[in-house]
Amino acid sequence: MVISINDPLDMHLHLRDETMLDIVAPLSAETFSGALVMPNLVPPVTTKEALLSYRERVLKAAGSSRFEPYMTLFFRSDYTPEFLESVKDEILAVKLYPAGITTNSEGGVSGFDLLELAPVLNAMSDLGIPLCVHGETGGFVMDREAEFIPIYEKLARNFPDLKIVMEHITTKDAVEALKRFENLYATITLHHLFITLDDVAGGLLQPHLFCKPIAKRPEDRMALLDAALSADSKVMFGSDSAPHPREAKEAPGCAAGVFTAPIALQALAQLFDNHGALESLQAFVSDNAKSIYGINPPEKEVVLEKSPYLVPEIYEATVVPMFAGQSLEWRVVSAG
Ligand code: DOR
Ligand code: ZN
Repeated sequence: MVISINDPLDMHLHLRDETMLDIVAPLSAETFSGALVMPNLVPPVTTKEALLSYRERVLKAAGSSRFEPYMTLFFRSDYTPEFLESVKDEILAVKLYPAGITTNSEGGVSGFDLLELAPVLNAMSDLGIPLCVHGETGGFVMDREAEFIPIYEKLARNFPDLKIVMEHITTKDAVEALKRFENLYATITLHHLFITLDDVAGGLLQPHLFCKPIAKRPEDRMALLDAALSADSKVMFGSDSAPHPREAKEAPGCAAGVFTAPIALQALAQLFDNHGALESLQAFVSDNAKSIYGINPPEKEVVLEKSPYLVPEIYEATVVPMFAGQSLEWRVVSAG
C-alpha cells in the first residue's frame, strides 16, 4: 500500500543551534514542508536581530530541501506594540513559557497577572499574531496541565480575537477545553499519541521518552487519539521533537525531550493505518495547520509505503530518536 501526503507541517519543533542544528535541521527539511520553530535558545529569541539571524542559520543548516522555518518569538511582557508591529512579518507566533517549567524557559512568565500581560496580548490580538502556550503550572507533575486549563480559559475569554494554541496537549481535560472556546487550538505530539506514563516509568526507566509535559494516563492518550484520528479541525501535528545529546538523556538528571522529527511521518502513517484512519492523516499533518495559521508552505509531496523501516539507533553519534533500533511498518519512499 502507498499513500502520499502533501506539504507536511510540524507546528512545534525544537531545532536548537550550532552542531545540533546542523544535525537535526536537514532531517526535518527532508520530509516536512515547513515547521514552527521554537525560540527557547540560550539566550531566548527576543529581538528582531536574533530572530532574523536564527532564521538564516536554520535555512543554512536545512540545506537544499525546500523548507519554510516559521519563526517564533519568546514571549516577554515588556514587548511594545511598536516592536511587535516591526517583527510581525518575520514571525508566525509568539511562544509563552511559564518561568522555569521546561528546557531554557527561565526567562518566562511568573504568575499569570492579566493586567501585566494585557498590553502585549492586546497588541498581538490587534496585529493578528497567534499566541502559543506551554500550558503547565508548577504543581504536581501529573496535574500541571489540568491545573493550567483555567488559565487557558481566562486567556481565551479575555482575548476573544487572539488565536491561542495549547501546545503539546496531553490530557482529556485539554481536549475538552478546546471545544469550549472558538479561539483555542492545540498541537499534539507523536509521542503523546503513542505512550503513557507506563511506557516511561512503568518498567525500566526510559530516558528517551522523558519529556515535558510528561505522558499521562491511558484515558488521556485515548482522548488525544480521538481528536487526531477524527481529523478534528482544531488540532494539528506539532512534534515537539526536542533533541538532546545522548549523554544529557542517559544521565542522572535526564533532560526532557523526545527526538521524533526524522521518524514522525512513518510512525504517524503506522498509527493512523492501524486505526483505519489514514484518510485523516492529511488534515492532521498539514491541512488543519494551513487553515489555523493561514499559511501556504512550499509544495512537497511525500510518498510513504507500507513496508518495514528500521529506525537508526542514533544520528551522527549524537542524538537518539524515538523507536531507535526498532522496526516501523511504514517507510518514506520519496519526498520532493
Ligand atoms: O520535553 C520537552 N523538551 N518539553 C518542552 O516543552 C521543551 C523541550 C526542549 O526544549 O527540550
Ligand atoms: Zn516544545
